[in-house]
Amino acid sequence: MERTLTILKPDCVRKQLIGAVIDKIERAGFRVVAMKKTKLTAQTAGEFYAVHSQRPFYGELVEFMSSGPCVPMILEKENAVADFRTLIGATDPAEAAEGTIRNLFADSKGENIIHGSDSAENAQIEAGFFFSTEEAVRVNN
Ligand code: GTP
Ligand code: MG
Repeated sequence: MERTLTILKPDCVRKQLIGAVIDKIERAGFRVVAMKKTKLTAQTAGEFYAVHSQRPFYGELVEFMSSGPCVPMILEKENAVADFRTLIGATDPAEAAEGTIRNLFADSKGENIIHGSDSAENAQIEAGFFFSTEEAVRVNN
């Protein structure tokens, strides 16, 4: 079993799509191991996306990610990281494959509904950013 970390971004919460997106995630075979609603500050959003700090869109990204509540989740499935990236689709919804979460629900490259870890190693780091060990106890069956 592998884990990945996702965030339903502030646009997802604002558009009242939390349930619709989780439905897609569960139907695709992912188990929700941990979930919460929280709000990032500019500081914590900046830390989460620190890898992009030199990119031209960093300021916009930090502002967007701290613009309202979001819903981080730890998900579990075989091949979770790669399968989840396939499920959410390309960063730009205009380029995301038909039926992917970003294709169905996202408006723009900046406001693209959902995050997915890009490696198992980063998934573990990102899970620790939001959840304690106790909160991330494995789901049975
Ligand atoms: P995440 O799962 O959120 O990490 O997205 P990603 O892995 O598909 O894309 P990447 O890590 O390259 O970029 C992180 C986030 O920065 C994206 O999801 C977008 O929200 C934002 N972003 C990326 N490129 C642009 C851009 O050109 N303009 C703006 N405004 N935001 C961007
Ligand atoms: Mg990324």
